[in-house]
Amino acid sequence: MSDDMIFSPLAFRSLTLKNRVLRSNISGRFDNEDGSLTQTRINWETKFAAGGVGGIISSYVPVLMEGRIIAGYATIHRDDFIPLWRSLGEAVHAHGAKYIVQLSHSGRQMDLPGVHNQHQPTPSSTSQPETLHGFLCRAMGAGEIRQLVQAFARAAWRAREAGLDGVELHAANGYLFTQFLSSGINDRKDLYGGSLRNRARFLLDVIAAIRETVGRDFHLQVKLSAVDHNNIIPWEGKGNTLADTVQVARWCEAAGADALHVSTGSLFPHPLNPPGDLPLEVLAVTYDAMISSGIHGFRNFLLFRYPALRPIFRWLWFRLKGDRDNEAISLNEARVIKQAVSIPVISTGGYQSASVVRGALERGDIDAVAIARSLVANNDLVEHWRAGLEQPPRPCTYCNKCLLNAPKNPMGCYEESRYDSREQMLDEVMSIYRTRGALAIPPVDGAAA
Ligand SMILES: Cc1cc2nc3c(=O)[nH]c(=O)nc-3n(C[C@H](O)[C@H](O)[C@H](O)COP(=O)(O)O)c2cc1C
Ligand code: SF4
Repeated sequence: MSDDMIFSPLAFRSLTLKNRVLRSNISGRFDNEDGSLTQTRINWETKFAAGGVGGIISSYVPVLMEGRIIAGYATIHRDDFIPLWRSLGEAVHAHGAKYIVQLSHSGRQMDLPGVHNQHQPTPSSTSQPETLHGFLCRAMGAGEIRQLVQAFARAAWRAREAGLDGVELHAANGYLFTQFLSSGINDRKDLYGGSLRNRARFLLDVIAAIRETVGRDFHLQVKLSAVDHNNIIPWEGKGNTLADTVQVARWCEAAGADALHVSTGSLFPHPLNPPGDLPLEVLAVTYDAMISSGIHGFRNFLLFRYPALRPIFRWLWFRLKGDRDNEAISLNEARVIKQAVSIPVISTGGYQSASVVRGALERGDIDAVAIARSLVANNDLVEHWRAGLEQPPRPCTYCNKCLLNAPKNPMGCYEESRYDSREQMLDEVMSIYRTRGALAIPPVDGAAA
């Protein structure tokens, strides 16, 4: 057995991973408009499982159709989808990896409303539009919140029935839980607003409801933004501090969470997440898909479309990042949170070098890393580390072209400099449509919801 900490097993309360590397939440518009998942998603997830990670955390999986960020992402809002999720889980398990579903609701942060969501405003903690894109929203009533708590619990139940290994609550990066947690966003005057305890009520109620529904032995982790950095538009409030999140982390543990996944930022994407470049020339050809999504969409499109205007947006965006490294960008915050709780802490944000990951694990700063883009660039990153390399020969450049292609194009690495040719790049992107072995998708025969 290896004495390299990266390859030592990680035991959560009721789940053990074979190593300390999780594929962080990421995928593309691979699925059907009704939310049923496709073989393409199975092909995508098994790439990483075959590449050697210990676990995979799914991308954003809505618990209701009204909570989607974008059409074409699989949902978990129907019982008759359970066999589909089971097929996905079995395909990942075949490679010795575990599968955790990220249970989510967009609230106002809905990038591309599908056919179910064209009637904005969307439910949120607030009726104030989101400030960057101008997504419209309305404050949910208390009865509506209580119903949504049950929708999360039922979704966790479906994940367990499907034989998956756990769930993660997406309480980071500006989605609905953040809209309640953040002092920069939540302006409610009722039991769900005001004090930090009130703002955390929705999240803690969901944890309690999941525990009541699936018991204590099904893995449940929570993704939190350590710091909101909510003031991308300079006059906005800064939102929650690290001290606020430390307190929320303690409450999550007390309510029954088994692990925490630490990210950053009260919006997605955010200058600190995913950290790296922002090639506006890519947004100039993909952001048009979002022009009608928010009241500032057209303004933003002009800022991306005309080279003379681009410095304005670049200044706004990079102001918050300063000279921080891309790699391990939130490690310091994750360390502080780990010191405050006794459950394992996973850190995400730029990890790609074996020595950085090993050092953080050996010092006890964190218990595991969750990696998205460096694994998109090199699905077998972990095997490069096992072979003794510090980084793969063609590492991720943090260019964020994968991210900025997402509104229109299939998910994959779009950094041409990493390939011998453009044709090779497109062939790699299209590889998600190639199925190795038998098709795994069973028919769905329930009534549409
Ligand atoms: C294209 C793209 C899609 C993402 N989708 C999600 C998501 O659905 N849910 C989530 O929690 N994080 C999402 N993330 C954030 C990643 O999971 C990860 O935390 C972040 O990119 C920082 O890690 P990295 O530097 O290893 O990419 C996404 C990131 C990218 C680039
Ligand atoms: S496009 Fe490729 S190189 Fe650029 S950030 Fe994404 S995965 Fe990394």
